Amino acid sequence: MNPLNHVAIIMDGNGRWGLKRYNSRNRGHRAGLDTIEKIVRTSIDHNIKFLTLFAFSTENWKRPKSEINYLFDLLENFLKIKLNQFHKNNIKLKIIGQRKFSKKLNKLLSNSEKVTNRNTGLQLNIALNYGSRIEIINSIKKINKKKLSVTEDNINKNLYTKNIPDPDILIRTGKTRRLSNFLLWQLSYTEIFFSNKLWPDFNERNYTDIIKKYRNIKRNFGEV
Ligand code: IPE
Ligand code: IPE
Ligand code: MG
Repeated sequence: MNPLNHVAIIMDGNGRWGLKRYNSRNRGHRAGLDTIEKIVRTSIDHNIKFLTLFAFSTENWKRPKSEINYLFDLLENFLKIKLNQFHKNNIKLKIIGQRKFSKKLNKLLSNSEKVTNRNTGLQLNIALNYGSRIEIINSIKKINKKKLSVTEDNINKNLYTKNIPDPDILIRTGKTRRLSNFLLWQLSYTEIFFSNKLWPDFNERNYTDIIKKYRNIKRNFGEV
């Protein structure tokens, strides 16, 4: 049985779900929050150490302003309401991505990390304004600035994900089979699962089924 430390998820399909049911993409984003709660709980039940959720990509700025504003309001409220509960559940929050938000949001994000910093349970990484290519570019820039050599180890140490092991599982919901600039470096040996369910419809059963399948995969890492 494979050990399982880190699950990464591309939470896709909110917009289509909302459009189909309520003729509103934003309703889908709101519904997606319930799935996040379910998946966090199930991750704790399975003793998973790291859960990384793709919440907003560097490319998602191309969306209509009204949708972007809605997404950030949703995140802000979610964090405010859930922070206590996360803290009580021993969850450590970490935001990965380029921190270029309003002063207010920056403060909320830093505070959420600070409050939960000493927690020893699940580490919940939220990828926000995250893009893998810019992450890799910035890592190499930092290495050059420190006059270090460009090695695999040094690149790892200068990514947003330093100190986080590579994901064992990547899940993308929403019928689409692509990586959309998510953790390109870190996913080199990750087991990838695509689900046809739209994110608001994805549930504990679907998640547990993927974990069960993963446990029995023969992971070679280049060996035979
Ligand atoms: C959620 O799904 C991903 C986010 C950017 C929050 P989408 O909003 O991409 O939903 P679809 O793919 O349009 O259905
Ligand atoms: C990826 O989903 C980003 C997030 C889940 C946050 P997108 O819906 O933005 O991806 P593309 O544009 O379809 O590739
Ligand atoms: Mg999408």
